[in-house]
Amino acid sequence: MRLDKFIAHSSGLSRKEVKRALHQGIICIDNQPVKNGGTLVNEQQHITLDGQHLQLSGPRYFILHKPQGVVCANQDSSYPTALDLLSDEKQDGLQIAGRLDVDTTGLVLITDDGQWNHRATSPKVGKNKTYRVTTSEPISDAQMAELAAGVQLKGESKVCRAADITRLESSLALLTISEGKYHQVKRMFAAVGNHVVALHRQSIGDITLDTDLAEGQYRALTEREINSI
Ligand code: URA
Repeated sequence: MRLDKFIAHSSGLSRKEVKRALHQGIICIDNQPVKNGGTLVNEQQHITLDGQHLQLSGPRYFILHKPQGVVCANQDSSYPTALDLLSDEKQDGLQIAGRLDVDTTGLVLITDDGQWNHRATSPKVGKNKTYRVTTSEPISDAQMAELAAGVQLKGESKVCRAADITRLESSLALLTISEGKYHQVKRMFAAVGNHVVALHRQSIGDITLDTDLAEGQYRALTEREINSI
């Protein structure tokens, strides 16, 4: 297929806008700017418009049950990555929406839709994220109250937003937060004098990890789940 046709089909730009984008040099094939709209392209090439990856087929959205020992990164020299677990999918353009630590298990969203990824993870949008937290020490009433009110994390200028916390057992709680600061849950519990020994993400917004999706398994999101973000 010609490059100009590919861009029009995959981006929704008009023919005139495609011409302009080509002229501006913001269309790249495999990281090289290309200005000739007649260039023949194929699905294996990485074609971008102003840095945004373009694809003919619609965007893709997945939910993965991340096991321990898997990193949320595009590449890693020590551990398998969350993307490695999507072995049946073409990984080009896929990004993790909201990373988990290597020892955290649970729900990970993966997509090649940059705007959707932003909505799922941006603190400004503030999607709720619910974690099952196991601690080394019983969670006291005072700690519950501090966590719910919003704790001050080391190295942060502002206190965390108020959280929702329910104690399920003496050292097990469900915590819902709407930010996504680095190691936030572990740092929140450390700030109140406790220690997280196991962490599992159950949901982001209205998307909840299926109980029958085993660790390491993934599936495509449903239309309803996609539209909920
Ligand atoms: N908070 C953490 O501390 N770790 C995670 O993996 C996710 C949230």
